[in-house]
Amino acid sequence: MRKGIDLKVHIAKGGKKGLLLANPVIGASGTWGYGDEFGKLIDVNRLGALICKGTTLKPRKGNPQPRIIEVTAGVLNSVGLQNIGVEALIKKKAPLWAIWKVPVIVNIASESVDEYAALAGRLEGVAGVSGIEVNISCPNVKKGGMQFGTDPAMAAAVTRSVKQATTLPVMVKLSPNVTDIVAIARAVEKAGADAVSLINTLTGMAVDTAQRRPKLNNICGGLSGPAIKPVALYMVYQVAGAVKIPVIGCGGIMTAGDALEFIMAGATAVQVGTAALISPRTAIDIIEGIGQYLADNGFSSIDDIRGLARA
Ligand SMILES: Cc1cc2nc3c(=O)[nH]c(=O)nc-3n(C[C@H](O)[C@H](O)[C@H](O)COP(=O)(O)O)c2cc1C
Repeated sequence: MRKGIDLKVHIAKGGKKGLLLANPVIGASGTWGYGDEFGKLIDVNRLGALICKGTTLKPRKGNPQPRIIEVTAGVLNSVGLQNIGVEALIKKKAPLWAIWKVPVIVNIASESVDEYAALAGRLEGVAGVSGIEVNISCPNVKKGGMQFGTDPAMAAAVTRSVKQATTLPVMVKLSPNVTDIVAIARAVEKAGADAVSLINTLTGMAVDTAQRRPKLNNICGGLSGPAIKPVALYMVYQVAGAVKIPVIGCGGIMTAGDALEFIMAGATAVQVGTAALISPRTAIDIIEGIGQYLADNGFSSIDDIRGLARA
């Protein structure tokens, strides 16, 4: 980090324990595994925080292949929440995280409100876990498969139950596959969320014209990467103008310039996802590039540029 430049950000001031990051660049869920896989490639401790793969109560195998493909300016994935389950995470991964400097946030996913609360409760007091990110882009099985993240009342119900089950900072990750993301953001803020992160992937598909069928086994998948950046940026801009809690921007961030756009639109911090699949070093370049921009333009703190692009 550059001398005299303050990159520290509070992403959950309101939580009982709070969450202060050394810099605003966070590894996004699903693209950094559990962090340990990256040990030989980069020093993960240089990140502001790391969010692990979406975690469920029981381990999941995910969807059959093919489940991740390249499309123009992005990636379509239908991994289907393949993960080791919360018990293995607590036993095998959290002890590693406990000795790391970088705070690790656990992304949780479930098909019922009770299970979300059970997951959050299970993570309470686990050394190495610094926060929870609630992925509400999962189907609500009890209400007929609708996503929790598409209905303000359901999104609020999940947030409330998770907050009641934990004293950890809780960030709710919003889906862009909605008519009005601001309404969802307001609902989860009211229900006690300490921060919101956005966006998750946009639903899309690709067709193999030689085979004459969808390229993904699951037919559709989540679109990420540069293709979604303008959509994500505008949603962050809208949400940052509507809530008081920190907004964490995510979607197509590949360079320091991209990250700065989100921060100037009002984001407190950013997440880097697909870029890490190309080169994990990108996240470090983004941290250094933000510091360089601040120094070159006479700013001493990341706080000095937040929201500057807001009308
Ligand atoms: C392969 C892959 C797996 C993902 N898995 C998860 C996940 O388990 N939970 C989650 O909340 N988001 C998941 N995401 C979404 C990312 O965290 C991020 O929100 C999205 O990809 C947009 O950011 P990006 O364009 O920087 O990748 C996944 C994305 C990809 C590409």
